Amino acid sequence: MRFTESSIYQQLPPSPLQSITLPFLTAHGVKVSIKRDDLLHSEISGNKWRKLKYNLLHAEKNDQQHILSFGGAFSNHIHALAAAGKHFNVKTTGIIRGEAHYAANPTLSQAQQWGMQLQFVDRKTYRLKEQAEYLQTIQSQYSDAYIIPEGGSNRLALPGVEEICIELTQQSEQPVDHIFTATGSAGTLSGLISGTLKHSPQTQVHGIAVLKNAHYLCDTVTHFVPQANSLNWHLHTDFHEGGYGKVSPALADFCRQFTQQTTIPIEPIYTGKMFYALWQLIEQGFFPIGTHIVAVHTGGLQGLAGLKSQQKF
Ligand SMILES: Cc1ncc(COP(=O)(O)O)c(C=O)c1O
Repeated sequence: MRFTESSIYQQLPPSPLQSITLPFLTAHGVKVSIKRDDLLHSEISGNKWRKLKYNLLHAEKNDQQHILSFGGAFSNHIHALAAAGKHFNVKTTGIIRGEAHYAANPTLSQAQQWGMQLQFVDRKTYRLKEQAEYLQTIQSQYSDAYIIPEGGSNRLALPGVEEICIELTQQSEQPVDHIFTATGSAGTLSGLISGTLKHSPQTQVHGIAVLKNAHYLCDTVTHFVPQANSLNWHLHTDFHEGGYGKVSPALADFCRQFTQQTTIPIEPIYTGKMFYALWQLIEQGFFPIGTHIVAVHTGGLQGLAGLKSQQKF
């Protein structure tokens, strides 16, 4: 065995829970704590690590020393997988949507430095990434690879995310009424829902969809967590700010101000949208006085360099 659950625990111990104090929160009578998964590890950060952990252990158990996955040219998941590959000495391959010139961007050049092999595919081919026939072709091309879907959201992603809920029961001094997360493929939301059902059933879980027309993600959640019920979670679909990757001036201002006031770095694609939505809900009086909210900082800060290079932020 090259690594085990306990050796991983030593290298990536629980992330801190940080409570924040701001006049805005005091004025609305709510307490907000941030689960700093961005601080889990300097390279393998955020929810990406949570989703990868049991996939890595599964590959290790089955003696598969090559992991392949899919992602866009600035993907946090691809970046984290490449980092994990370097850290745990596992070969990694990324099937990347788009043209080969993206290989020079900050995300992918770092991934290659960590040893990831890249294969670029056009957008039409990339859309086949969940179809059995295409996956068979990829599997025969990379016969030794263990394949993880885009975003790392598969069944094995859930137990890693559930660990956030276990850590919260140990770290939080007062009961957690609500947990918030940014939602893209809904693996993290699903893991938090199954985790709270097991470890703190009084907590309600909220996903802030970062993409447009995201109602279909409710089916993803019920697929992963059939025992979830409507009292236990909610997907907010009106805070996408124009769609995936769109950064409105108001959102950009909010992110800058948030970081200035809290000294916590966020980015506008995931965590910025989540905090912006949460702040709007607080302002609208969504939460009764005395409510304790935990927002999961899912990382993604590596994406800032790419956003800056595209002059999007
Ligand atoms: C930083 C960050 N936060 C949140 C998410 C959303 O997680 P999920 O795809 O599990 O919904 C992602 C990935 O898509 C991400 O990279």
